[in-house]
Amino acid sequence: MGMIIAPSVLGANFGRLAREVERVNASGADWVHLDIMDGHFVPNISFGPAVVQTLRPLSKLFFDAHLMCSKPEILLEPFARAGANQIDIHVELGEAVTPLLWKIKSLGQKVGLVVNPPTSISLVQPYLEQIDFLLIMTVNPGFGGQSFIYETLPKIQQAHAWRREKSLGFKIGVDGGIDFKTSAECACAGADTFISGSTLFGRPNLGAAVRKLRKVTEAAAAATRKAAPLRAERALEGQVP
Ligand code: DX5
Ligand code: ZN
Repeated sequence: MGMIIAPSVLGANFGRLAREVERVNASGADWVHLDIMDGHFVPNISFGPAVVQTLRPLSKLFFDAHLMCSKPEILLEPFARAGANQIDIHVELGEAVTPLLWKIKSLGQKVGLVVNPPTSISLVQPYLEQIDFLLIMTVNPGFGGQSFIYETLPKIQQAHAWRREKSLGFKIGVDGGIDFKTSAECACAGADTFISGSTLFGRPNLGAAVRKLRKVTEAAAAATRKAAPLRAERALEGQVP
């Protein structure tokens, strides 16, 4: 499975959004990540379906809509109509989650579930068979440009272990503070989808930044795969606890 690189439009210059999306098209990135904030679920407001609809004809890339919203039920159809390919909702919404996942699927969209840093990863476990994408927030959502929270790494490892044990196919994404170093650590832990705003859009050459992110994450994952049998061997010899 190849790595997915998804620039987050939140890191783009909103004054020239159309040109920024064209930059993403030319960069070799896989997805466009769209952060939708309602000023209630998170203390910030970004943009809505009308903006997504404006961007849709400008790109053939996969549009991933990350809904940081208290009432996603009123937004699913508008985002599907606007041209999203996947809609991600937060597990913190509690009992609303099951009907939301069904609704997203019924709209012909890929289904994403997101978990915030303070929320236990065990909360997503009941939904793993129903989702295409598990997004592990590596910052508290609301703003771009924050520092990566290292305490989230074990959640990636847990999600990766569950996926292997249950032979499931959902992708494991990370979002927030993803740069060339933190992305490699997430790849070692089992992530395969990398959302990055300020690191990618902050570079004059977006294509070079996307290539670098792909290279460091692929190298980190390959090194981990290679080290795993070695670790197992050493464990058998009693060299590691
Ligand atoms: C955070 C958003 C992220 C954000 C990432 O609320 O969900 O997608 O844009 O931005 P950086 O990469 O700058 O942390
Ligand atoms: Zn996001």
